[in-house]
Amino acid sequence: MSVPLRLGIAGLGTVGIGVVKIVQGQADLIAARAGRRVTITAVSARDARKNRDADLSACAWETNPVALAERADVDVLVEVMGGHDGPAKAATEAAFAHGKDVVTANKALLAHHGQALALAAEAAGKALRFEAAVAGGIPVIKALTEGLAGNRIKRVMGVMNGTCNYILTRMQSAGLPYAEVFEEARQLGYLEADPTLDVGGIDAGHKLSLLAAIAFGTRVSFGAVELEGIGNVSIDDIRLAEDMGYRIKLLGVAQLTGRGLEQRMTPCLVPSASPLGQLQGGTNMVVLEGDAVGQIVLRGPGAGQGPTASAVMADVIDIARGVRLPTFGIPATMLAIPTPASSATPAPYYLRMTLLDKPGALAKIATCLGESGISIDQMRQLHRPGDRAEDAVVLIVTHKAAPADVAHSLAQFARTGVLVGQPVAIRIEEV
Ligand code: NAP
Ligand code: HSE
Repeated sequence: MSVPLRLGIAGLGTVGIGVVKIVQGQADLIAARAGRRVTITAVSARDARKNRDADLSACAWETNPVALAERADVDVLVEVMGGHDGPAKAATEAAFAHGKDVVTANKALLAHHGQALALAAEAAGKALRFEAAVAGGIPVIKALTEGLAGNRIKRVMGVMNGTCNYILTRMQSAGLPYAEVFEEARQLGYLEADPTLDVGGIDAGHKLSLLAAIAFGTRVSFGAVELEGIGNVSIDDIRLAEDMGYRIKLLGVAQLTGRGLEQRMTPCLVPSASPLGQLQGGTNMVVLEGDAVGQIVLRGPGAGQGPTASAVMADVIDIARGVRLPTFGIPATMLAIPTPASSATPAPYYLRMTLLDKPGALAKIATCLGESGISIDQMRQLHRPGDRAEDAVVLIVTHKAAPADVAHSLAQFARTGVLVGQPVAIRIEEV
């Protein structure tokens, strides 16, 4: 058997300790699969005195993760600290400068610095792998870079933030408002230290931008992802959408169209009966569409110690086997600079508004839509207990419409004199 592959693990939190447990608990299985043993020679974290729920007595301790990356007895830096700048970036750069491979679970780091780090890895002739950074335990990076390598990818879609999916499905099943379920998620420890990373769609946007780079052979362009979080999704819309056969998901969609690279991470309606519509709780789902294969649906745990460490280990074992793939599927020097789509692909829209319940009110709204070139597919008027007698809640599902036309139409509604409050418009994604 060849010489062991020696890991230096920077970060001993949820993921780092998960990696330690697999390396120690499955040593023989990994050696058999990799053709060599995988060992941990050194580790780093902030607090050397913390109880880590793992036996680290055989590992050297480094306070500084950069020093860990530079150690002569480390072949692979496993970066599981987090953060898109600071020590994660410095240690990754140091690793390449000192001829080490890097495995990371850090989507923020790659969303912000993916191109520069991939270039650094290639210049050093080393690997930069990140299976754990997207959809936790789901092997989606492998599926795109290897399993679907013979396909022209048409679209990548998915629910990639478990916390948001937990909040939305819990609102729906328990009939609770957003604020109450957000608090529940906080108490359950589901939220990131900065919750806007989750509920603002940023974490999921990071992941989508990484998938888009591989799928379309373009440089990571997180800054061009259209982002909208779930903070404005109301229990009203969840209930009304359900009545019409839809569920609301924080859905990521990336596709290359004649208008450029479209990347969106926004709340969307999807059919309740579709695999995405059926997705409950903190689970993730990624849908990949290739010209030859058709549609692939991958579903599984998007976070947690075991699932995320499982993904880290897949990358470590590849490196131990001598598998060397370009970070984003093709050499970083060949990745194209993407042109962001000038507008999103037209789609049907769900519109909810409150109107004064008087003759001609609906006609005025229909006129605004017609003048924007938007055709109505379905319409319902509701009077629910608790609604003011003089108001009517109106739901409209449009035929496919350009987002700019929908925005123009909403602006026109405000000038009709029959609109009460703000209308709501949510895209319906064809999945
Ligand atoms: P975590 O539990 O907060 O652990 C972070 C670890 O990094 C801690 O051990 C911490 O040290 C260490 N650390 C932080 N700053 C450091 C510094 N300046 N120098 C040395 N060590 C430092 O985080 P995690 O949940 O394991 O996540 C790690 C990475 O995996 C992140 O990029 C995250 O986005 C990604 N990820 C996590 C999950 C998940 O389910 N948790 C899923 C997918 C991806 P102390 O322990 O001493 O404080
Ligand atoms: N906060 C993330 C989620 C963790 O809820 O999916 C995994 O990236």
